Amino acid sequence: MTKVSVDPSGTFLKLETATGTYRFHAIWLRDNATDPETRAVGNGQKLITFSDLPSETRITDARLSGGGLQVDFDPEQKTLTYDLECLETNAYDRAQIGKRGWTNAGIEVWNDALKSDVPTGDFSELSSNKDALRIWLGLVTKLGFGKITNGPIEHGALYKIVDLFGYVRETNYGKHFEVRTEVNPTNLAFTGLGLQAHTDNPYRDPVPTVQVLYCLESSAAGGENMVVDGFAAAQRLRDENVAYFDVLADHCARFEYAGEEGVCLTSRRPMIELAPDGELIGVRFNNRSLAAITDVPFDKMALYYAAYRRFAEIIDDPAMEVTFRLAPGESFVVDNTRVLHARKGYSGEGTRWLQGCYADRDGLHSTYLSLLRSTVLEAAE
Ligand code: FE2
Repeated sequence: MTKVSVDPSGTFLKLETATGTYRFHAIWLRDNATDPETRAVGNGQKLITFSDLPSETRITDARLSGGGLQVDFDPEQKTLTYDLECLETNAYDRAQIGKRGWTNAGIEVWNDALKSDVPTGDFSELSSNKDALRIWLGLVTKLGFGKITNGPIEHGALYKIVDLFGYVRETNYGKHFEVRTEVNPTNLAFTGLGLQAHTDNPYRDPVPTVQVLYCLESSAAGGENMVVDGFAAAQRLRDENVAYFDVLADHCARFEYAGEEGVCLTSRRPMIELAPDGELIGVRFNNRSLAAITDVPFDKMALYYAAYRRFAEIIDDPAMEVTFRLAPGESFVVDNTRVLHARKGYSGEGTRWLQGCYADRDGLHSTYLSLLRSTVLEAAE
């Protein structure tokens, strides 16, 4: 049985429902009203500025009516109606998550156990079937990467992958970049050495949030692609040694790339990035583009380097990695704010040709959520 009571101060009300008891402030309720004078009916955008709401906003009365909650506000002398389900969904009167480095409920951290279950979608199915695309984008959102098979083997095919969920982010490397390797063991310069797992372009601000790598040619043995969950690595570091985790989260590293004429990209960001409430929101790890670290106090620099070393060891631990091979026409998409990628070394002779490009994760997430919402609406009809 749902009940409502207003605190005598008028600054908040208490709503008791089957799922729990939640308090809502008067100013919060007023700010989140959905009446047509407060929010546009079509796009839900607010039609008022915050300063239009009186600072002395109070609740004078509240009652349950017609399946909703009616609230009277002073000094505006306004009565507004709220959807109970919507209030429960947005309730903020709950215990906060405590441990630094927690992850959003929609995220699942992983290690090498995921190798037999790499999230994979078929290109033509993803292109023609919205349910298949929604499911695959859901996996990419949850796990931070996904593979696509059976795509066309042609120059620029990677743009068709980006078209599935968003837009290419052009950089000084162009709309896309070429990753060509000729493997010839008689000449060491052309030996395909492995690359340590890294996130791309940490020297950009903001970093490219999605990377697509698309295989067009692969005749050399080896050269497998490998991914590591940076969030899993950060949480493992935290659980092993919280001082290591804290020092990497609490101080900025610096990254730089000035390797071509007219380019001087710099950024100042932590290797482990947390939201103010401790949520793990990003990992930057790329030794090749790390600049001099100058934002760690002298008495913490030794600890910082010890933490950086241990973080690298965890990232390099085979127990953290998922390896898969890309055949021509296959590609993978990676959340570059979370998942590190690497290439294993080559052996034998042959060529390998991949094309890569960047895109934005908000577009991917937006496509996923809009597909999810339309599925829920269709199911309700
Ligand atoms: Fe890379």
